[in-house]
Amino acid sequence: MTNLALTVNGERTAIGAVPVHTSALDWLRDRGLTGAKEGCAEGECGACSVLVARPGIDTPTEWTAVNACLLPIASLDGQEVITSEGLGTPAALHPVQEELAVRGGSQCGFCTPGFVCSMAAEYYRPGRSACAGDHEHGANGFDLHALSGNLCRCTGYRPIRDAAYALGSPGENDAFGARAAEPAPAAVATGMHSSEGEFIRPTTLDAALALLTDRPDAQVVAGCTDTGVQVNIFGSRPALTVAIDRLDELREFEVSAGEVRLGAALTLTEIERRLAGRVPLLSEVFPQFASRLIRNGATIGGNLGTGSPIGDLPPALLALDASLVLASRRGERVVPLADYFTGYRQTVKAADELIRTIVIPLPLAPMTAFHKIAKRRFDDISSVAIGYALDIRDGIVRDARIGLGGVAATPLRARDTEAALIGQPWTETTVRTVAAVMANEGTPMDDHRASSSYRSAMLGQSLLRFYFGGLDV
Ligand SMILES: Cc1cc2nc3c(=O)[nH]c(=O)nc-3n(C[C@H](O)[C@H](O)[C@H](O)COP(=O)(O)OP(=O)(O)OC[C@H]3O[C@@H](n4cnc5c(N)ncnc54)[C@H](O)[C@@H]3O)c2cc1C
Ligand code: FES
Ligand code: FES
Repeated sequence: MTNLALTVNGERTAIGAVPVHTSALDWLRDRGLTGAKEGCAEGECGACSVLVARPGIDTPTEWTAVNACLLPIASLDGQEVITSEGLGTPAALHPVQEELAVRGGSQCGFCTPGFVCSMAAEYYRPGRSACAGDHEHGANGFDLHALSGNLCRCTGYRPIRDAAYALGSPGENDAFGARAAEPAPAAVATGMHSSEGEFIRPTTLDAALALLTDRPDAQVVAGCTDTGVQVNIFGSRPALTVAIDRLDELREFEVSAGEVRLGAALTLTEIERRLAGRVPLLSEVFPQFASRLIRNGATIGGNLGTGSPIGDLPPALLALDASLVLASRRGERVVPLADYFTGYRQTVKAADELIRTIVIPLPLAPMTAFHKIAKRRFDDISSVAIGYALDIRDGIVRDARIGLGGVAATPLRARDTEAALIGQPWTETTVRTVAAVMANEGTPMDDHRASSSYRSAMLGQSLLRFYFGGLDV
């Protein structure tokens, strides 16, 4: 064990001799901070939500709500965490605690500390008050999606929403607001080991790649929204875990005349905020991807790193004709995303390679859309996902790229559908004919999410929805 430590509710606290895969949630609760709860241990309920001080986009630090059940405590070495206990005390409640209390937003209280932390992150979000009041934003700019990862089983959501919409703005003497004006803690080199294994956070890409070269068995982690579930639910205990989410080289963000370059370790929340609508197809994906809590941790590289056939980003990125920059000590190579997936959870990425950057060529196709078919509107995994990018001029389809997820062992391009569309007039007759082609794409399976026939039917329906939706616009 080494001298790992983090600041919890303002107090520097040694991590101590704990198993290397100990979650931040278990660690906090073992230290008496039992506000955060374990409801599911897989990122679904938000009862474990805490705030971490992350480098911000609009302020030097942003208080970011994350699922403490998914993060290994080792990943927070050198960082700052606030729990519900640190936000306020019974004698001096924080404004979000006060509003939840007076508006009846808590009954059994199991979920409340998690709601408090997610709500506090939104309370401090820079520029919140400038957001327009619509059915998902209060007059105070509060975005209800900030709570999309928090479940309450007994209060009902109206009093919770009332509390959120009643919040004012942080005052000048607000300590957490003042902290946000100072830089966030830097990522520190971390080495932790126990009989369970080893956790290493290298501080340069070169050092990370050297580790992967020497140890092909290493488990790379970024936001841990996928690997945390593997540890908690499926008992995964990698001998070596290598954290890459804070590597500067993996956090590039650039929009130039010819391309958009997104560092693999950027979280979905960061990309959503930084792009600010400049890639409309991705703007459609973000609100449908898990919850705000998950998007605050989940990285774009992690979504491609899983190799999952039901990830939401691959269909969109296939439609956008994206490529990946893969880096290893042997050098870098650029792989079109269409050539990246080779089989079920298999890709061309070698064990010693990291995804460094995702590159989207510009200009973007003029007509794009993302359709996610899932059992719930929010916080659910896709049964089928479809990304569209079409170029239609003078009523003729000049180019078409369609990415599909959930209908084969890998995400794939709907090549037959694309070929059937290109050169044809963009009319209802064409679309109805080609919808039948689209319904035959892939090799969908029956599973607990959907039957193969439902998946095929959804493909054909999706094209019709895209056509008729486009007419409305
Ligand atoms: C409650 C819940 C809801 C979810 N909902 C959705 C959803 O709606 N849509 C969806 O698509 N996914 C969803 N997911 C899955 C998950 O959040 C995403 O796949 C996410 O993008 C993973 O990113 P991460 O940074 O957390 O990856 P991690 O869990 O850290 O890593 C995942 C995998 O990617 C690899 N990896 C990470 N970064 C790199 C890199 N730079 N280079 C190479 N390999 C890398 C890791 O080695 C690991 O194998 C959900 C997960 C949970 C727990
Ligand atoms: S315990 Fe349910 S999200 Fe963490
Ligand atoms: S108050 Fe009981 S679960 Fe929310």
